[in-house]
Amino acid sequence: MEGLSRREILGTAVSLTVLGVTAGVTGSLGGCGLIQEKEIPPKVTTGVVNVGPAKDFPAGGANTKFWELYGIVLTNDSGTVLAVRPRCTHKGCLATWQADHQRFGCPCHGSQFDMLGKVLKGPAVRNLPSVVAEKQPDGTLAVDLTKLYAAESALGFKPKG
Ligand code: FES
Repeated sequence: MEGLSRREILGTAVSLTVLGVTAGVTGSLGGCGLIQEKEIPPKVTTGVVNVGPAKDFPAGGANTKFWELYGIVLTNDSGTVLAVRPRCTHKGCLATWQADHQRFGCPCHGSQFDMLGKVLKGPAVRNLPSVVAEKQPDGTLAVDLTKLYAAESALGFKPKG
């Protein structure tokens, strides 16, 4: 680095770091339909919560809007809405919702689960924790987070994100 001042060297290092972070974030969000890359603890993991009108969860789709708040993905395969907790049952990594393939994929050892949380490919042999989102008299859906996270704990994992 002959001829460069200390300030120029520091500025270059900062620029490269910013570029690296930007590339990492872009890479984790770009094109593959992943809903999360790292574990962020959900804000609420107990109680029964209302997730809104059933019509917001049409058949054949998945809704990730409650990921940060409750750590769940709401899926509707053919009429029944499930709240799926994508804690991989192999070693506990968080599986990601892969919208392009309509499945959950675990980044750790490659397990895959369908939108109901059923194992498609190992090494995991047990399905993802899930509960039915119960329809309320007013047409909204309620999810029992206490029951869902108890199912996760029963697998031997704590709700760390
Ligand atoms: S922790 Fe998911 S495949 Fe191993």
